[in-house]
Amino acid sequence: MIGKDQIDLANVPNHVAIIMDGNGRWAKQQGELRTFGHTSGVEAVREALTAAGEIGIKHLTLYAFSTENWNRPVEEVNALMDLLVSTIMNEIDSLQENKVKLTAIGNISSLPDQCQNELQKGIEETAENDGVNLNLALSYSSRWEITKAFKEIAKDVELKNLRSDEINESIVSSYLTTGDLPDPELMIRTSGEKRVSNFMLWQIAYSELYFTDVLWPDFRKEDFYKAIIEFQNRERRFGKTSEQK
Ligand code: FPP
Repeated sequence: MIGKDQIDLANVPNHVAIIMDGNGRWAKQQGELRTFGHTSGVEAVREALTAAGEIGIKHLTLYAFSTENWNRPVEEVNALMDLLVSTIMNEIDSLQENKVKLTAIGNISSLPDQCQNELQKGIEETAENDGVNLNLALSYSSRWEITKAFKEIAKDVELKNLRSDEINESIVSSYLTTGDLPDPELMIRTSGEKRVSNFMLWQIAYSELYFTDVLWPDFRKEDFYKAIIEFQNRERRFGKTSEQK
C-alpha cells in the first residue's frame, strides 16, 4: 500500500503540474454525460491539493481548460465554465482554512465575465495565504503563451525598455504567464495518454514526466503519492553524467 510515509519529505518537488485527463471516458464508462465526468473531477482536484499540502509541495498547476478546449461542444464549454465558478464559490472557505493561495495562468480575459469575476475574487481573497499555491491554467496553451511573450519582448525592444543582447533564458521565462514561478520538477498526466498537449512546453524542459492510466475522476491521494515516489526514484542528470551529479 502506497503511503505518505514512503515519501522523503526532504526531496519533494517544489512545483508539480498536472494534465487532468480522462473525465469524458470515465463518464462514458458510467453511462453518464461527459459533464458528469468533469463534476466528478472536482473531488480529484481536492485530493491532489490536499496531498500536495500534506507533503509540503509549494506550487500545484492544474491544466483545467486549454485554448483548444474552446472547440468542444458549446454545452460542454458552458458546463466547464459554470463548474469553475461554482467550484471557486463552494471551495473558497476551505481554501482559506487550508491557507491555499489561488492563482491563474492563461488568456483569462477570454473567459466569460462571471468566471473572470469569481476567479479574481478568489485570487484577491487568498493572496496572502502561505500554503500551497493552486495555479489554474485556464484558456491556456504554451504556443499562445510563447507567442504572447515574443510580442511583448519585441515591443519592449522597440520601446527601448530592453536591449536585444540582454535577452537570455531568464528574461524569456519572465515574459511567460508563469512569471517568477519555478519550473515544475514533475509533470503528471492521467488517463494513459502520453502527450504534453501544448502544456508548459518551455517550463517542462527538465521536468520528470509521469503517466498513469488512472482516469482523472478516480485520481486519489495515493495516486499522487505514487507519482512523487517514482519522481524520487528517478535520477535527474540535467544533461550531465551520473558520476558528475
Ligand atoms: C480532461 O478530460 C479534463 C478537462 C478538459 C477539464 C478538467 C476540469 C476539471 C477536472 C474540473 C474541475 C477543475 C477545477 C479547477 C474547477 P477530458 O474531457 O479530455 O476527458 P476524455 O479525454 O476522456 O474525453
